[in-house]
Amino acid sequence: MREYQRHLIACDGSHCHGSKLLKEVREQLGKQARDVKCSTVSCLGQCKEGPVLIVYPDGVWYRCTEKSALKRIVEKHLIGGKIAKKYAMFTMQHAKS
Ligand code: FES
Repeated sequence: MREYQRHLIACDGSHCHGSKLLKEVREQLGKQARDVKCSTVSCLGQCKEGPVLIVYPDGVWYRCTEKSALKRIVEKHLIGGKIAKKYAMFTMQHAKS
């Protein structure tokens, strides 16, 4: 069984088109992509904020409204393990404890 370090969920609804973002994420991660499970969902209910991503187990919801946001989220959070605060919408409460 493969063990992942993080799970990235991208909204692939009509406002977000997250499946396109996941291709960029995998390219940027390179070999580290094997540590990150990437999935899509149809809508996260935050369409005005989209594209919307969530990083688990940290429970951080991100908005990717700027071109630079995705690159920064990958660099800082998926690789560096720290929240990319500039693009974070909120962190789920259970993940903080
Ligand atoms: S379509 Fe992405 S949050 Fe609704």
